[in-house]
Formats: sequence, C-alpha cells, structure tokens
Amino acid sequence: MKRIALLGATGSIGRQALEIVAAHPDLELVAAASGSQEISGLAPLTQVGGDLTELLERAEPDLVLNAVVGFAGAAATLWALEQGVDLALANKESLVAAGELALAARRRGGGLLLPVDSEHSAAFQCLEGRPSETVEGLVLTASGGPFFGRGRAELEEVTPEEALEHPTWSMGPKITVDSATLANKGLELIEAHYLFGLPYDRLEVVIHPTSVVHALVRFRDGASLAHLGYPDMRVPISFALTYPERAATPLSPLDLASGPALEFSAPDLETFPLLATARQAGELGGTYPCAYNAANEVAVEAFLRGRLPFLAIAETVEAVLGSVDGTPARDLDDLTTADREARRLAERALQPA
Ligand SMILES: NC(=O)c1ccc[n+]([C@@H]2O[C@H](COP(=O)([O-])OP(=O)(O)OC[C@H]3O[C@@H](n4cnc5c(N)ncnc54)[C@H](OP(=O)(O)O)[C@@H]3O)[C@@H](O)[C@H]2O)c1
Repeated sequence: MKRIALLGATGSIGRQALEIVAAHPDLELVAAASGSQEISGLAPLTQVGGDLTELLERAEPDLVLNAVVGFAGAAATLWALEQGVDLALANKESLVAAGELALAARRRGGGLLLPVDSEHSAAFQCLEGRPSETVEGLVLTASGGPFFGRGRAELEEVTPEEALEHPTWSMGPKITVDSATLANKGLELIEAHYLFGLPYDRLEVVIHPTSVVHALVRFRDGASLAHLGYPDMRVPISFALTYPERAATPLSPLDLASGPALEFSAPDLETFPLLATARQAGELGGTYPCAYNAANEVAVEAFLRGRLPFLAIAETVEAVLGSVDGTPARDLDDLTTADREARRLAERALQPA
C-alpha cells in the first residue's frame, strides 16, 4: 500500500487524483487538504486551510501529491523534499518560487520528485535513464491558449470569461488565465530548469495547438524523443502516483490513423511577453522567479475580478521585477518575505496613479 496525502483535493487536479486513487487497490488516501471548501470524510485526516505541514507530519504519507494552486503550496513542497517523502508535484509555483532552496532540500532529503505537469512528466519519461551528457535540450509544447493567433490590439478588451475558455485542457481558473498569457509556459520553463538541471538556452517552447506532443528531448546524435498522448491530466497524475509501476488507466490510446494535427510554430513573444519575462527572471535567479510568480498571482486575481485589463497582467509583473532586488532566499522565511514584498509591489502597481 502506498499512503497518499493529497493537497488541493477539491481542485481540478485533486478531483482527477481522487479518481486515480479510487481505481487503484495499492493506493490509500491517508490525508486530504483544501483551501476553503469542506472535505470532511474524504480521508482519515482532513484539513481546510491552515498549515499543511502539520497535516503532513500527522499523516506520515509515503507520497505527497501537491495540487494546491500558487505559492500557498510552497511550505508543503519544501517539507516533502526535506523529509525525503516522495513528492508528486502539480504545484509548479512552489518549485519556481523556491528554486535552489527546493533543490537543496531535495538533495538532503533524497526522496523522489515526480512532475505532474504534463510536459514535465513527458520530459521526465523521455529523459529517464539517459546520461546527461547525451542530452542537447528540451522542447516544451504550449497549446497557445484561447488567444493564440491574435495580436495585441485584439486583446485589449478580452474578458475573464473569454480567457477561461481553454481550447484543449480543462483546468482551474488561475492556470487557465496563465495559459492565455503564456505565463504558464514561463513558469514551466523555470520549473523545467530546476527539475532537469538544464540551462535556459537549452530549453525551448513551441506552440502546438492540439497538445498531443507534450515534450520532446533532443540528443547529441541528432535523435529526438517525444512523448505523445491525448491531453488528459489523469495520465501524468497516474504515472506519478503509481511510479515506477505505470499502472493501467481506462483512457484511449492515441489513434494516429485518425490524423491528429501535429503542427508547431514559434510563440509570439511580443503579444505574450510573460514567456520571455519568465526566461529573464529565471536567468537572473535568486528570488526573481519568486517575485515573477507572486506578481503574476496578484495580477491574475485582479484580472479575474475585473480590476485589471488582460494586457496589464504582463505590465504588472514587469513593473514588480523592475523594483525587487532578487536577493537569494536562505530559508522559507526569506522566501515568504520575498513573496510578500512582490505582492505588495504588485498591489501598489494596481492602484490608479
Ligand atoms: N488543472 C490542470 O490541468 C493542471 C495541469 C498542470 C499543472 N497544474 C497545476 O496544479 C495546481 C492546481 O491546479 P488546479 O487547476 O487543480 O487548481 P484549482 O482547480 O484552482 O484547485 C486549487 C486547489 O488548491 C486548494 N488550495 C488553494 N489554497 C490553498 C491553501 N492555502 N491550502 C490548501 N489548499 C489550497 C483549493 O482548495 P479550495 O477549493 O478549497 O479553494 C483547490 O483544492 C496548480 O499549481 C497548477 O498550475 C494544473
């Protein structure tokens, strides 16, 4: 039996994870947490809000699936990495924000870090067992989101309802808006850097509207390995929860003869600048990625509440990155301070002049 603690049990990833756990006799849900929705009875131990690490201490899980949205998941990610408890990570924001701190905790703890993000799960599978010197680079695919193909002038008036209409994935509101701005791919670029130890100049993003190819790894001999499948998060969730077993799922295999479109193009960085901004924040290192994430969280929330136009999300993040000093965090307290400061600056940038 693998004892699972599920953080973010009421969300899009959380609900799909519950389906996987229920279908697998060797997975036991020992703890579940949400932010505000009631979940009593879902698992032997449940918690709504509060300190997630207290719940994890009591639950003694074999694996933590962190499916919380945003920086709120950071303490739990660091806890699992430090304790050497295997971590299935959907909460990319925590790895982006914690960066080197998370890697140091992982080295000390020695547990597995299994990506749940579909692109990173795909890359993990293509890279598994390959000597690092044979790897040239990694390509992450992006659907392009609901506004793929539009120019800046066509995005001035877009509403939250339009941004929440994702063409291929059904996800929580924050990541759906991030997909529309390409901030999600920016966060994923930084996530890939920390997960796979590749420098940014060997990480590439291409737009692939049908989301059938999830990632591709280029090798030094000219060969590339790609991971293909229909866009369904139950595949990477199941892969992470049952690793290394790769348990069966009830999902259809890819039908290539039906002709799924395999088209690719370069991202439009002028219309969607948050992808390039993430790359810059990642290259700067320290707490710049933490500030990028925090400012983006504040701006997305403001956009969803109708307080901020769509294009101003990127402007808010850029303004904050221009004001922070990016000093590396020594511990979670430092990181929390950097996150709070970036949020304060983002709130200030939202106020009318
Ligand atoms: N959805 C996807 O397909 C997908 C794909 C790849 C990666 N991800 C990543 O997975 C994470 C979750 O995404 P999602 O789409 O599942 O988001 P979501 O549907 O908005 O769900 C977020 C979950 O986090 C919980 N939560 C929020 N604040 C919390 C707190 N302080 N303590 C404990 N729980 C808290 C929410 O609880 P309440 O419901 O009670 O507020 C909810 O269960 C994100 O980092 C996202 O980037 C998602």
